Amino acid sequence: MDGSNTPTTAPVLILLGPPGAGKGTQARMLEDKFGLVQLSTGDLLRAAVAEGTDAGKQAKAAMDAGGLVSDEIVIAILRDRLAAPDCASGVILDGFPRTTVQAQALDTLLAESGGRINAAISLDVEDAAMVTRIAGRYTCAECGEGWHDSFKQPKISGTCDTCGGTDFKRRADDKAETVASRLSVYHAETAPLIDYYARQNALSRVDAMGAIETIAEDLSAIVKTATA
Ligand code: AP5
Repeated sequence: MDGSNTPTTAPVLILLGPPGAGKGTQARMLEDKFGLVQLSTGDLLRAAVAEGTDAGKQAKAAMDAGGLVSDEIVIAILRDRLAAPDCASGVILDGFPRTTVQAQALDTLLAESGGRINAAISLDVEDAAMVTRIAGRYTCAECGEGWHDSFKQPKISGTCDTCGGTDFKRRADDKAETVASRLSVYHAETAPLIDYYARQNALSRVDAMGAIETIAEDLSAIVKTATA
């Protein structure tokens, strides 16, 4: 994890799940509770697009269309981020891996540093719920905290509970037609990873149709056991 060959036992957790399953919401809660670092490849790619890097320019078209960014670009971004010092305390991967090639690359990367995957947790949600969740989603422009028009509202309307910010944004790829494409890509490319991690005896599954707090409790119990 530190990019060297020094063995590391820092926890590595993976949140698997379709768009809108709650990966980002739950990863942020686990980050606070367990002192882990959330690594969202979606956030890293959106930052690359905003900065106008070469990787960002190449990623933009795929993201706008609801497709996957190339394995090569995503693996390089993830590898760089994992080597940063703050990841030495352990990470929660949110949105990575998304293909078998990415999963194999992660296995290789961790093997090089003596690390391992503590748990790959699948958030199981019905497709119809995901559309509703994504349609109502918005985030604080200042701190990135995620909110929802119906399911997770700030205590004071228009003010972020976390940082007091009053500026919010919605994602460009949260349009209905793009969401349909993201869902079909998930079923074709990413859902097979559930079996991939089951074969490694690393898989846990969580019913992610319930309330955010209930799911957080289920996840915490799994993370506690997996990192003990
Ligand atoms: P990414 O940013 O990873 O998006 P995603 O996987 O589509 O997931 P989302 O962020 O949409 O959903 P989430 O599961 O985090 O749900 P959230 O917690 O926000 O990727 C975007 C794009 O980048 C991809 O399409 C692709 O192009 C590219 N990309 C990224 N990684 C890649 C990779 N590895 N390889 C190739 N390309 C890659 O929750 C959604 C909403 O629901 C929120 O408003 C929340 O408040 C609410 N909510 C959450 N839980 C509940 C609940 N239990 N009940 C009710 N509401 C809830």
